[in-house]
Amino acid sequence: MKRKVHLVAAVLALLFLAVFWSSTVVAELFLSAAAVATVKQAIAWALLGFVPVMAVTGASGFSMGGKSKHPTITAKRKRMPVIGGIGLLVLAPAAVFLAQRAQAGVFDGVFYGVQALELVAGAVNLVLIGRNFRDGWNMRRRKRSSD
Ligand code: HEM
Repeated sequence: MKRKVHLVAAVLALLFLAVFWSSTVVAELFLSAAAVATVKQAIAWALLGFVPVMAVTGASGFSMGGKSKHPTITAKRKRMPVIGGIGLLVLAPAAVFLAQRAQAGVFDGVFYGVQALELVAGAVNLVLIGRNFRDGWNMRRRKRSSD
């Protein structure tokens, strides 16, 4: 049961972040300022879903991993505070700030600076979450093949 919850939350976490990142890039590169504002607004609201999904992914992972010293679980455990730190200290405040600025029609240097930072931090988190996903998947596969 815990593993299923972990898997569903992990898939949702990856999906959320991939959609945030790609919709931002598409809107910035190809769409109007109004569309950028809509995308930024949607991302800020979607944080209400993304933050709990990340919390459930982490909590279920830590709970399943227990005190295990398995190198793969240790690596996953170490990535989690970095993922959480980037999410809560960079991505969430940036998303709210960018939504407010875009809503007010202020697309100045500060907006694009924060936007660039958000894209870089988002890419780093995508890689880290992706690695945790790959490691979890491989652990499961190895377990199955040795059953
Ligand atoms: C971004 C965070 C994470 C993601 C995306 C993630 C992803 C995954 C995935 C996809 C699986 C395979 C599930 C299945 O096939 O049913 C898995 C399993 C697992 N994960 Fe995570 N995980 C994350 C964080 C963590 C953390 C922080 C820990 C522990 C410290 C952890 C421990 C485990 C364990 C113990 C398993 C079960 C492996 C098995 O079946 O033997 N995960 N994870």
